[in-house]
Amino acid sequence: MATEALKARPGGPLRGEVRAPGDKSISHRSLILGALARGETRVSGLLEGDDVLRTAAAMRAFGAEVERLGEGAWRVVGQGGFSEPADVVDCGNAGTGVRLIMGAAAGFDLAATFTGDGSLRKRPMGRVLEPLSQMGARFLGRAGGRLPLTLKGGALEGIDYRLPMASAQVKSAVLLAGLNAKGGVTVREPEPTRDHTERMLRAFGAVVEVMDEDGVRVIRLAAGQSLMATTIEVPGDPSSAAFPLVAALVTPSSEVTVKGVLLNPLRTGLFETLREMGADLTISNERDAGGESVGDVTARHSALKGVEVPPERAPSMIDEYPILAVAAAFAEGRTVMRGIGEMRVKESDRVALMAAGLSACGVGVEEEPEALTVIGSARANHPVRGGARVVTHGDHRIAMSHLVLALAAQEAVEVDEPGMIATSFPGFVELMRGLGADLG
Ligand code: S3P
Repeated sequence: MATEALKARPGGPLRGEVRAPGDKSISHRSLILGALARGETRVSGLLEGDDVLRTAAAMRAFGAEVERLGEGAWRVVGQGGFSEPADVVDCGNAGTGVRLIMGAAAGFDLAATFTGDGSLRKRPMGRVLEPLSQMGARFLGRAGGRLPLTLKGGALEGIDYRLPMASAQVKSAVLLAGLNAKGGVTVREPEPTRDHTERMLRAFGAVVEVMDEDGVRVIRLAAGQSLMATTIEVPGDPSSAAFPLVAALVTPSSEVTVKGVLLNPLRTGLFETLREMGADLTISNERDAGGESVGDVTARHSALKGVEVPPERAPSMIDEYPILAVAAAFAEGRTVMRGIGEMRVKESDRVALMAAGLSACGVGVEEEPEALTVIGSARANHPVRGGARVVTHGDHRIAMSHLVLALAAQEAVEVDEPGMIATSFPGFVELMRGLGADLG
């Protein structure tokens, strides 16, 4: 990965229409489910970021044919099961990739060793090892459930599992393992998380029941189901669209439209929060694309005010708090984000890095174990200064958030390891420049 720095400078308005890159969650799943299915799955709009390309390589290693046909257009030919990979499976920076693939592979009689980059090797894997081990998978590796780890799969039993944390990755690992478990699986989620796996399992022909039992979302997948290849259109990623949209909200005279954004209600917590802050955010051309709702989102520069973000909203915007914290820096008053402990186990400790980065840029912050408060600058007579070199620990969202901050700050901001932005948003720099941002 490139280690040089990237700088964003304050400047004029951002204006224009762009398309967000493909949704990362749906991109990973389309390759994994396509590889598990029998037959040829065609995918359009796939995110060609490093994380997803690692998943494509992993699916080849497990025996699927995976071929790029053109920009975002891919073909996956699954054999109806996984075979043993000949080499270590390196998932790079991708927590979603490795956790979902471990689940998918656990049902087959094979051994596979997984690893990742320095960030992924620090992230907790115990959360997927626990339910998969209860189902009968075995794991060998470092103490504390960190990568590298070797999975010995096969002969799984069903499970009735209550998620100890709100995690779509853990839910998905259990469901994918359940495809090849005797007795089927039930997952109970105290707080609903993104439901792309459930929706896509259905699109591949599986029967998935979803119920509400006393406020707990219960997902059941019966045993003995096989997947049939299908066609998938990947919508634009709301987590990526967030960056140009917030840039427009905080930069005077701006108006930016991001087209074809996924509007799944379990992903739109940021848009809801920004509206509560007074953002002029409008949605047009709302339509259905392959079972998901998508639309064009327009953001115009707005006077924002601080809000309290309810903790139960966290799963629907867990990747968006860094950029929300930037919007909050330009708002009037305090924005309080609670119940965000899960942010500490992402590609970096995002609570700590946002607190450090914002305060280096002259923004008031208060950090608690599970909360972050940002003291907005509007009308406080001290505009957001910027003027810092921000340490990102290789975290793409920390980098993009601070670059957006610089566009409306008084002084330029520089981020280290900008090459990591390509894990989720290849083309970010060009897209932002096209809107008028001074980035380079
Ligand atoms: C994802 C789930 C979330 C999110 C990640 C993508 C997914 O992680 O942060 O970027 O695709 O299932 P958790 O499930 O760990 O919250």
